[in-house]
Amino acid sequence: MLDRRTIEIVKSTLPLLAEAGPALTAHFYQRMFRHNPELKEVFNLSHQHSGRQPAALFEAIAAYGTHLEDLSVLQSAVERIAHKHTGFLIEPAQYAIVGEHLLATLRELGGDAVTDEVIDAWAKAYGVLAQVFIDREAALYQQAAEQQGGWQGTRPFRIQRKVAESALITSFELVPVDGGAVALYQPGQYLSLKVTHPELTHTEIRQYSLSEQANGERLRITVKRDGQVSALLHDRFEEGDVLEVIPPAGDFVLSAPSESPVVLISAGVGLTPMWAMLEARLAEASATTLWLHACDNGEHHALKGALQGHLAESSGLSAQIWYRSPLASDRPAEDYHNTGLMTLSDVAEQLPAEGEYYLCGPQPFMASIVEQLRALGIGDTQIHYELFGPHQAL
Ligand SMILES: Cc1cc2nc3c(=O)[nH]c(=O)nc-3n(C[C@H](O)[C@H](O)[C@H](O)COP(=O)(O)OP(=O)(O)OC[C@H]3O[C@@H](n4cnc5c(N)ncnc54)[C@H](O)[C@@H]3O)c2cc1C
Ligand code: HEM
Repeated sequence: MLDRRTIEIVKSTLPLLAEAGPALTAHFYQRMFRHNPELKEVFNLSHQHSGRQPAALFEAIAAYGTHLEDLSVLQSAVERIAHKHTGFLIEPAQYAIVGEHLLATLRELGGDAVTDEVIDAWAKAYGVLAQVFIDREAALYQQAAEQQGGWQGTRPFRIQRKVAESALITSFELVPVDGGAVALYQPGQYLSLKVTHPELTHTEIRQYSLSEQANGERLRITVKRDGQVSALLHDRFEEGDVLEVIPPAGDFVLSAPSESPVVLISAGVGLTPMWAMLEARLAEASATTLWLHACDNGEHHALKGALQGHLAESSGLSAQIWYRSPLASDRPAEDYHNTGLMTLSDVAEQLPAEGEYYLCGPQPFMASIVEQLRALGIGDTQIHYELFGPHQAL
């Protein structure tokens, strides 16, 4: 626990941090990558370019400073970040590196206000936070390694099948090269791929949600062609090739009991974690499940045939699909039900007041859906969401 004086000093510097926020984070990352270039192999550099990861780190440190007396407020954020860190195989020793550059950044940019006493206080506070993460991550690594079919670090998996699901989205079914069992995971969790390839300047780590329910034998991911790594997966990695896989992680999981109604809402490739949740619901004879999905049109509608199969077989499942710009070949009422962007008021009578809502898709889509859900009286505690990038509050 931190002493009162340390807490006071850290809190007194929070306005300074808030004011200098973006400059501090930019300086911090530049400094860290200059002194410890090996960390370029760890961080997702396109998230650095977009500025979202630096912002996420800064917001977390500022939130920590604000809640020093009662860290329980931060529990869910710590959980999310710890899961994310294990996907990048973050090690305890790296906390000392981050801490060193954080303190040096404060000293270099903080001006006269940052005295030795301030640095000491932040060093103590950072040490406490780092230990919280180190301990939680150690537990997650241990859990991933010790369960049946589990492992630590990377494990080679062969691409057994590659299936085009739509114009831009392809599934990869992965089986372990060692022929062993594959640990079970929770619907909604993601694996991480550590990809090394002659066309990449650095080793890149990327997360992909597991797009089927756990089965103990293989892992399936469903990937949209986007930037560097996903294009390589689409164009350069074929059936028979091997990928290095980091164990499943993530705290965005189907937690609703099977007797609660559930609404699964996605746009584009955001349907992947929803699909694992949908399979889990169907396997359990659950209460009603409503599938709401938005995409451009039939050419971009991944897993359409599989959805139609489930709808034909499962009385508890219903769906509403939005196509932004349907093609002449798209069949209204069969392939899709609504045109344009997803508008929940069109289907308000189907939305359960007491149900749990799971969302995944691009940030602007989710911000709009959260706003629409709130307007329809759905409480924030009923809304759960995953972003395919550094976390942002909606
Ligand atoms: C928890 C989680 C689950 C995920 N699940 C899935 C999933 O199921 N399916 C899926 O397809 N994806 C998923 N993702 C996203 C995935 O991890 C990758 O981010 C995605 O595949 C893009 O990676 P990339 O290497 O192809 O693109 P990157 O090269 O990383 O580029 C990403 C985007 O940034 C842009 N960009 C890159 N560099 C710059 C720059 N210098 N300036 C401006 N813009 C730039 C690119 O044009 C591109 O649009 C998930 C992400 C997370 C965090
Ligand atoms: C107390 C110290 C730390 C804090 C407060 C912190 C905070 C964060 C936050 C808020 C995120 C975003 C989480 C999300 O998107 O959900 C994140 C991601 C990440 N962190 Fe940390 N972190 C810390 C230490 C470290 C260390 C020591 C390393 C390793 C050098 C590290 C590497 C990463 C990486 C690689 C990501 C993912 C980046 C991405 O998605 O682009 N972090 N961290």
